[in-house]
Amino acid sequence: MDAAGVRARSRGLTLTDLSIGSSDQHPPQSVLDVLREATHDPATYRYPRFSDTLPLRAAAAEYLTRRFGVRLNAETEVLPLIGAQEGLAHLLLAVTDPGDTLLLPDPCYPPYWGAAAVAGLNVVTLPLTPERGFLPDLAAVPENVRPRVLLLNYPNNPTSAVATAQFFREAAAWCRERGTLLIHDHPYAELTFGDYRAPSALEAGTAGVVELHSLSKTHHLGGFRVGFAAGDTGAVGALARVKGAVDFHPYLGIQRAAAHALGLPDEVGRAGARIFEERRDALVPALRDLGWEVQTPQASMYAWARVPGLRDSVAFAVRAAEETGVVVSPGRAFGERGEGFVRFALVQPPEVLRAAARKLGTVGVGG
Ligand SMILES: Cc1ncc(COP(=O)(O)O)c(C=O)c1O
Repeated sequence: MDAAGVRARSRGLTLTDLSIGSSDQHPPQSVLDVLREATHDPATYRYPRFSDTLPLRAAAAEYLTRRFGVRLNAETEVLPLIGAQEGLAHLLLAVTDPGDTLLLPDPCYPPYWGAAAVAGLNVVTLPLTPERGFLPDLAAVPENVRPRVLLLNYPNNPTSAVATAQFFREAAAWCRERGTLLIHDHPYAELTFGDYRAPSALEAGTAGVVELHSLSKTHHLGGFRVGFAAGDTGAVGALARVKGAVDFHPYLGIQRAAAHALGLPDEVGRAGARIFEERRDALVPALRDLGWEVQTPQASMYAWARVPGLRDSVAFAVRAAEETGVVVSPGRAFGERGEGFVRFALVQPPEVLRAAARKLGTVGVGG
């Protein structure tokens, strides 16, 4: 898609890049202020030790209690990450052996496939379909499949589907029965619309459950690379040991900024989410005007549209970029079940999104 965008630009087209879920909003000013001050404090210049991460671990635990009513021991059940993506790849290395089975939703966030490959895992996919609200049917997994890990993500990328606390309770119970660790990737925890608030998988208990949180979306800190893992003591401890061989935790200034961000009033996150909600309200009707099928997202920063007659989403997305300058993600990039869909990241203002939809209406869907 990058190359198609470059070709479009060389033909004089203005690019509208809706292909990456990287927030275009600024982090809260006070978060930047904390970071700026930290860069003037020589105490932040050295390698952070595990004990230095306590303020961020404590802030994360407080956030989880305030927001989800979940109580965690900040010493043993919380660990800072250099982003949820780094955390997932190392967590899989920490809690599996090569050849173990990983249950992965299809479609899913593409780096999951890479993380599974790095850990040498045998991937069994769980289809996510519109008929089931893009929730997996765990009852359909054969009795003899005993996965080491089930990986879930709600609010979901790419489908923007959401899950209830009851769904997580059932998934956690299913996992406990099969000796499976439930990993819930939760970067969109606060990017929710209207009165909808996303639950945490940790509400189902912390034993056998690890949740990955990120400051990339809610706090618009994607480039700063910071998040945290929380939950099962054994899994979090194993992750800490693997990371101990790999990195030294995020820069202390970023840890301070993240701890500050996690303590900000909820209204800060709600105001940010409303910006994405307005964009959703602009794009979804514009896509429906094209005859595309899209559910109204209650959360996340994406719209997931089924395009009638579309059989090759990659060819369509390349053509769309080259002919109109609008860059979207082909559904196939997220897995076989993504074919026939296109994903939009809501990372431009409403009028730009409406114009992008109009332009896409001029691109042939093809055979
Ligand atoms: C499902 C999912 N997990 C993880 C990430 C990356 O999070 P982080 O920036 O904390 O690594 C993203 C980013 O788009 C995502 O969509």
